[in-house]
Parts: sequence; structure tokens; C-alpha cells
Amino acid sequence: MCGIFAYAGSENAVPLLIDGLRSVEYRGYDSAGISVLDSAGDIQTIKMGDHKASLENLGDAVESSGLSGQVGIGHTRWATHGEVNQQNSHPHSSSDGMVSIAHNGIIENFIELKDQLRGTGIDFKSETDSEVLAHLVGNSVSNGSSLREAVIFAANQIKGNTAVVAISAEEPGVIVGLRVGNAGGIVVGRNDDAAVMASDTIALLPYTSEVVYLEPSEVVEISKANVALFDLENNQIHRDTVVTGQNFEAAQKGNHPYFMAKEIAEQPGAVQGAMRGRTDFAAGTVSLPEFSLTAKQIEKIDRVVLTGMGSSLHAAMFGASIIESLARIPASAENSSELRYRNPAIGSTTLVVAVTQSGETADTLAAMEHARNAGAPQAVVLELEGSQATRVADFTFPVRAGQEIGVASTKTMIASMTTLLQMAVVLAESRGVIGSIQVRTIVEGLTELPALIGTTLGLNGRLESLSGRLAEFNDLLYLGRGTQLSIALEGALKMKELAYIHAEGYPAGEMKHGVNALLGPEMATVVAAPQNSLYEKMLSNISEVKARGGEVAAIVTEGDTTIERVADHVIFVPECPELLQPFVTLVPMQILAYQTALNLGRDPDKPRNLAKTVTVE
Ligand code: G6P
Repeated sequence: MCGIFAYAGSENAVPLLIDGLRSVEYRGYDSAGISVLDSAGDIQTIKMGDHKASLENLGDAVESSGLSGQVGIGHTRWATHGEVNQQNSHPHSSSDGMVSIAHNGIIENFIELKDQLRGTGIDFKSETDSEVLAHLVGNSVSNGSSLREAVIFAANQIKGNTAVVAISAEEPGVIVGLRVGNAGGIVVGRNDDAAVMASDTIALLPYTSEVVYLEPSEVVEISKANVALFDLENNQIHRDTVVTGQNFEAAQKGNHPYFMAKEIAEQPGAVQGAMRGRTDFAAGTVSLPEFSLTAKQIEKIDRVVLTGMGSSLHAAMFGASIIESLARIPASAENSSELRYRNPAIGSTTLVVAVTQSGETADTLAAMEHARNAGAPQAVVLELEGSQATRVADFTFPVRAGQEIGVASTKTMIASMTTLLQMAVVLAESRGVIGSIQVRTIVEGLTELPALIGTTLGLNGRLESLSGRLAEFNDLLYLGRGTQLSIALEGALKMKELAYIHAEGYPAGEMKHGVNALLGPEMATVVAAPQNSLYEKMLSNISEVKARGGEVAAIVTEGDTTIERVADHVIFVPECPELLQPFVTLVPMQILAYQTALNLGRDPDKPRNLAKTVTVE
């Protein structure tokens, strides 16, 4: 959700804090602020609360302020408690100004704590839950505790998932970080000149590739010369650093106008990354080295439950459909926020597969923990290795799409789908449902996948006029059947997220049960209808929409002259096996939403009210 960056070193922290915040800004851009210990030993805080321009304005403000210092913390906010304004921006200070904190997460008992603190005469300056932390830590420090002791004390008072960084004017060289639960991680690194910590590894890469991830209920104390981890009883913990594979260069925009454009364009490479070391194109085989279940254990699986949120849920839906049809194991996909609370009948013979780009989504992690407690073997399909999800799962399948910065998932979704397809093949072959000849045929298709996506990307130009037309509607309907349903749902989600147009994704067969009442010239319909076993059904659905005066844009297989005659607009995707069609229909859905957003003057990288990593429920 929110982004945190902290620096303790020998250089002026101020510009470095701004640079660090730029790397984590995708986590929230409602406000931005920094607190720095100046040369007089006082904490100076500068913060902005004006939505998307916050970080840019903060950069200008700190430059003209002349502020400097060698220790500081910074924050970019995704608002949960209190509106977007300067008072609610982080960092927050204790009443005496001796302590400053930046917080990510939700303090569930903040009203109770706020009342208690108010009772002791504390005057709150913001509407946030976070400010209670500044006062809890500040009170302990003014009573003689060290900053670390004070943060641990505060950690034991609060309920909920939280990540915090804090500085104190009483201990000038020190920054303390805390992680409670799964409100997003804290990752720490050090080189000869500085120690840094952040909510995301990418912000540390200019300093070091050797990092330490905080586990839940851990505290870290950093100074220029030292990094030390502690538990919530203040006992020191020793943990080796890990070398991160993330690449800073890869996360830059290059010559693309937006990260989303870059990430859409990178999809041929993303599917290739997801197949690396798994699909052997020469031998015609698929294997998953990360999947250490024996054939006997795979045989015992009687159900697969896939789970995720947002685009990852749509990838999970695709995965469920393909696992059930290929491996003949009953499989379903469920929104993690529902799965976690409904006491599902999951047990040792249920394979749970979580899909999560970040590995940090609060609801997905909670559903995963539920599955772990139920004794289910569990896999996670994810981009960000080292995230909490990898520690909960038994098997980790990195999708290797490369870091995604755009808030709306594109390349990680397609890479997750690629990974899930390979999982389906492995399960099917292991259970003897398909043999090596069928696997070879699937591999032949997979060999073509990067090129198929590349060809589909070439459609970009032709989608411009259609997106201009879609931008004129207030309501859009997206229809699909079979595996194309997950793609229709994703198309509608993308349009909502990026263009802020009301868009409904629906199973085409459900139209007669209500949706038909909405049809007419005021609502356009986007249909995923490539040539496949459900083509005729989709053709009837298109005719139904047309008969009621609706405008139809259909994504169809190249050379389809039938739908071309019926629909108002057609988008041609390359011909390919039915198994791979969702990959090629997904791409125009993404481009349509992206271009419609641009048509309407929206920023596709920073959709309003959203964040890339949702570490609160
Ligand atoms: C947010 C993002 C989506 C993403 C979803 C799940 O809503 O904006 O793009 O699909 O979270 O995130 P995850 O990291 O678990 O895939």
C-alpha cells in the first residue's frame, strides 16, 4: 500500500530519500513526505498531500528548503484513514517533535489508543490511525526508553498488520523499523557508506543487492555502520543476507511513455521467462523443478483450489479451468478475501495454489495461512521472490516477468497464466491423463507463444480508434465463455481501473438472466470470441446484443468474416490452439483499457484510489 524508504549514512539523505521514494511511489501516491535529522540535531519534516503531484512537489520543496542531514525517513501514502491532505501525510511526529514515524498498514485498535492518548493530554494533528504510533513511541522515548525499546513497546500495544520506520532526535544516527503481520514487508541493506531500508527491494538496489527481509514480529535497528534484527522481546536475531535477483535497470521506463506501455510490450519476454527451465522446446517436455510432490502425492490430490485477488484472481480462474480440463482434477478459483473467512473444507488432499504478483496481498496471505493451518500442500505463483508468500507456501513458482511498476497488472498476469498452464500439463502427465505425445503437441504451441503475443502487440495502432469510441460510453459490457470468461472479466477490470468507465464482465450465457435488460445503444459490448468450441454460442450472443441496438466490438481470430459482418468493430488476433487463445485475447483487452485511459486524460500508471500492492484488507 504505502511506500517507505529510510537512509542512515554519510551523504546528504534528502535527495536520496526522494530517489528512494520514487522507486516505491507505485505503492501509493496520495501524499509524500520526509523527516530528516538536521545538523542541529532537530527533526525537520516536509510533506505534501496533493495526490499524484505529491512527490514531485516534495522534491521541489526540499530543494528550495536547503534541508540536509545524514539520517532520514520517507513515505508515500495510499490513504486509508483520513482524507488526502498535508496533515494526514506521513511522517507523523510526537508532540515534543523528538520522534518521527512513517507507517504502512492499519492499526485496528487506533480509536481505543487515540482515546487513551488524548486522555493523557495529547493533541492529535491528523485523522490517521498512524499518528498514535508517533505518540506511543514518543512517550516511551521521553520516559527514557531507547528508540528500539519504544518501538517494541508500541508494537505490543497495536493490533493489525503494520510496517513502521522511526527516528528519534535522542539517537541521531539510528533508524528503527518494525514489521507486524503482513502489511507489506520491510527489507534492509547496507554498503560501506550507508544502511537503508524500504518497503520494496527495488529501492535498495542502487545501494546493494544483498538484503535481509524482516519476518512478521521483528524489529530492525540500522545505523551507518550496523544492521541488527530483534524480536518483540528485544532479543537479537541473526539472519544471513540474501542476494536479490531484481534488476534496477529493468524497472526503468525506457523510451515508453508509461510503465504500463513498457510492461504490455514486454509480454513476449514475460511468457518466455515463465517457461525458462520448465518447458524444454527441443525435447517437447514440461517439468516444474520447484514442484517436489511425488507422483504418488499428486495422485492423491482430489481437488485444486486456486486463489488470488484482482488480475491474479483472473489468472487463477484461467488456471482452474485449464487444470480441470487437462488434468481432470476438480479445480476452482476463489477470491482470497472470501476464501479466508468462509471456513472452506480444505485438507491434506487439496492442492492450494495462490497467485499473487507481489506475494504481499493481505487477503491472499491470509487465505494461504488458512490453507497451511489446514495441512494442505500449497504452491504460490508469484513475481516477487523473497516476499512473505514464499515463506508460507511449500512450493514457490516465480513467474520471472521482471518487476512490474504499473499499478494495473499486465505482464505478471500473462506470466502467471503461462506458469499455471505448465502446472496443468505436469499434473495431467503425472496422473497419466495425457501422454508424452499430447505434451509434445502442447509444447509445440508454447514454442509459438512469445511470437503469437508479439504479433498481437502489432495490433496496437488499430485499437486507437476503437478506444476513442469506447471512451464515449459510460457503461460497457464484456462477455466471454470458458477460459475467455476470465479474459472478459480482466478486460472489464482493466477498463474500470484505468479509464474509470463502468464495465461489467459477464459469462455470455448468463445474459438472458438479467443483463439483456441493459442492452441498447447506451452500452457498448466487448466480446472475446476467437474460433473455438464455443464460437457458435458467442456468435448468437453477439446477434442478441445487435438485435437490441447494442454496439459490439469483437475480438476474433484473423480471417473470421462471419463475426466481421455482424459486429461493429473487430479486433483480429492470430490463429492458435484453443489452449493458448486466452493469451492472445488478453493483450487487446489491456491495450484497449490503456488507450481509452489516455483518450480520457487519465494516468494509466497511477489510477485514482488504487495501489499496486494491497497490504491491508
Ligand atoms: C491490486 C493491483 C492489481 C493486482 C491485485 C492483486 O489490486 O492493483 O493489479 O492484480 O492487487 O495483487 P497481487 O500482488 O496479489 O497479484
